[in-house]
Amino acid sequence: MELKNKHILLGVSGGIAAYKSVELLRFLKKAGANVNVIMTASAQKFVGKTTFEVLSDNLVLSDLFFDTESSVKHIDLATRADAVIVAPATANIIAKLSHGIADDALSTTLLAVTCPVMVCPSMNTDMYQNIRVQRNLDILEKDGWHILDPDSGVLACKAVGAGRLPDPWFIFDRVLAMFTKKDLNGKKILVSAGPTVEAIDPVRFVSNHSSGKMGYAIAGAAEKRGGQVTLVSGPVSLESPVGVERIDVQTCEEMAEQMLANLDQADIIIKVAAVADYKPIDPKTSKIKKKDNNKDLFVSMTQNLDILKLIGEKKKKDQFLVGFAAETNDLEKNALLKIEKKNLDMIAANLVGSSDSGFKADTNKVKLFFKDGSFVDIPLMDKSKVADILIDHIINKIN
Ligand code: PMT
Repeated sequence: MELKNKHILLGVSGGIAAYKSVELLRFLKKAGANVNVIMTASAQKFVGKTTFEVLSDNLVLSDLFFDTESSVKHIDLATRADAVIVAPATANIIAKLSHGIADDALSTTLLAVTCPVMVCPSMNTDMYQNIRVQRNLDILEKDGWHILDPDSGVLACKAVGAGRLPDPWFIFDRVLAMFTKKDLNGKKILVSAGPTVEAIDPVRFVSNHSSGKMGYAIAGAAEKRGGQVTLVSGPVSLESPVGVERIDVQTCEEMAEQMLANLDQADIIIKVAAVADYKPIDPKTSKIKKKDNNKDLFVSMTQNLDILKLIGEKKKKDQFLVGFAAETNDLEKNALLKIEKKNLDMIAANLVGSSDSGFKADTNKVKLFFKDGSFVDIPLMDKSKVADILIDHIINKIN
């Protein structure tokens, strides 16, 4: 419940993308926010008030004189708001907001807010690029409001270009970022995630069950906290965390190359990836055929590079190095050995092999060990929460 006890105003103006705000509202509610929706008259031509009222559990404000039991309802809402999101924001509402015009419920309420505001422009490309619209967005940005760039693609008017309202999950992610303390500002964080794959032949490979969820959660959490994050990722089927530079790799060798290329600039290195410890010595260039007279197939393997150990050897004094340990037994003993052997500042050890922790699960149960011998037990929880607690401990140690 990341937004528990937060009051959010969702301003909806009249664009075809108004339907996406319904989904955004659901994300906000699911995260625990109390949401009041304010609609312009033209927004109601696209989506009815009832939809927003049912999903928000609050009456929609759209008319200052008819919609409200109190003549100062808009001031109440503005005063209580912790954040305002205007999505979609049409050229018309952007023009009104940038010039302080107050002629409907949304523009009038927004004149009274003092909390952070995020404006999500959505319109035809030519309108979006129009110098007047850009000038108005500049005014809002200089006033300290957040402007979320629109996506590019095919628009409702069939034009192709910038102007699409980003996906609701993306806007929601940026709302969470708005509420997150920026305690990694100025820090560069290098994260590895996912599995590596090592070819046996062009159609078969050696790999493991890593989904990338734990590493991606850490990269996303670090970005929200103000960090500049580079994510070196093995093949996974996850969306890139917003605002993170992602470098895709396949093999341990490629991962090592990218980690080392980005190592010098990094302040914090977090190695979550499940690297294949062994790779086939002699990967075939064509598919190995099944032979009827030969039931057994032997693939000779050789050890891969230990990337974390290599980084531990190169690590500078002011760099903080975190490893992960995936164990099926002797968690503590193995984790402590790895801290020592790989010159780590901290290791996050998780038992793998159960359905709610380790590989693939949305949750994880992790024990953090530090090089000074101290440790912290984190109970089973969502990987995004584990990520935040892990970062809290890193910041605590760095400071
Ligand atoms: O991706 P998910 O599905 O969310 O699952 C998360 C996870 C279980 C993969 C993650 O929480 C985790 O435990 N990652 C580490 C997996 C692993 O490879 O553990 P290990 O004990 O074998 O390796 C110890 C450390 O050395 C790790 O930081 C690993 O990245 C690193 N290593 C290992 C081998 C190698 N050749 N090079 C390495 O850098």
